[in-house]
Amino acid sequence: MEVFEKPSAIIQMFHVSKRYSAKAALVDISLEVADNEFVFVSGPSGAGKTTLLRLLYMGETATTGQIVVDGLNLSRIARRRVPFLRRKFGIIFQDYRLIPSRSVFDNIALVVEAVGTKRQLIRKTVMSLLRTVGMEERWRALPLSLSGGEQQRVAVARAIAGDPKIIVADEPTSSLDHDSAEIILNLLKQYHQRGATVMIATHDTELIRSTGGRVILLKEGRVDAAAHLPAGTS
Ligand SMILES: Nc1ncnc2c1ncn2[C@@H]1O[C@H](COP(=O)(O)OP(=O)(O)O)[C@@H](O)[C@H]1O
Ligand SMILES: [Mg+2]
Repeated sequence: MEVFEKPSAIIQMFHVSKRYSAKAALVDISLEVADNEFVFVSGPSGAGKTTLLRLLYMGETATTGQIVVDGLNLSRIARRRVPFLRRKFGIIFQDYRLIPSRSVFDNIALVVEAVGTKRQLIRKTVMSLLRTVGMEERWRALPLSLSGGEQQRVAVARAIAGDPKIIVADEPTSSLDHDSAEIILNLLKQYHQRGATVMIATHDTELIRSTGGRVILLKEGRVDAAAHLPAGTS
C-alpha cells in the first residue's frame, strides 16, 4: 500500500452538529479543508451552508463536536482570542454589507487601519486594493450608488484587505448577473492563487461546474457522502 503525504488541513470538523432550539441545522459533520484549497459548499436552500461557514469564524458556536481552524480549537478558544481567529478570515456575503453611509474608500480604509497599517501607507494600500478589483475610479462613491456587481467587487477588496488566510463567501454571486458573477469568481480565484484557502457556499450548480474544485454537498444538514471526496480520516 502506498503512503501519501497528506496535505495539511487548515480547517477540520469532527462530528459537528448545530441545533437552533428544536431545529437541527447540521448533523454530525466531519470534514477537512486543505490549506490553499478552493472548495464549494453546495446543497439546496436550508441544507446548512450558511451555518457551516458561520461556525468556522465563530459567527455561531457548534452544539457538539470540535472545529479546528489553522491550529485553533474553537471549543477551547478564549473569548479575547476570537478577534485573532476572525483576522484569519475574509468574509463575503450575498448582500455585500458595505457601510452605506461611508464612501468606497472608507469602507476599505476601516479594515486597512484596523490591521495596523502605518498611517502614511493607508491611502496607497486602499487604492491598491481598489485597483485589484477594478474599482479605483469609484473611490469617492457611496456604496448604494454602485451596481450590485460593483458593490461586491468592493466587498472583495474589503475581504482581502487584511490579507486573510481564508476567504469564506456565502452565495457571493447569487444576486449578480452572469458577467458580474464571473468577475467576482475570478477575483476569488486570483486570491486563491496567492495562497489563500477559499470556501464558497452556493446553490448554483452551473457556477460550480464552470469553475471546478471540490464540492462539499450538504443535504438536510448532513454531508452527502456520494459527492464528498474522503479527506483521509475516519
Ligand atoms: N438563526 C437561526 N435560528 C433558527 N433556525 C435557523 C437559524 N439559521 C438557520 N436556521 C435553520 O437551519 C437550517 C439551515 O440553515 P442555513 O444554514 O441558513 O442553510 P442554507 O444556507 O443552506 O440555506 C434551516 O432549516 C434554517 O431554517
Ligand atoms: Mg445560506
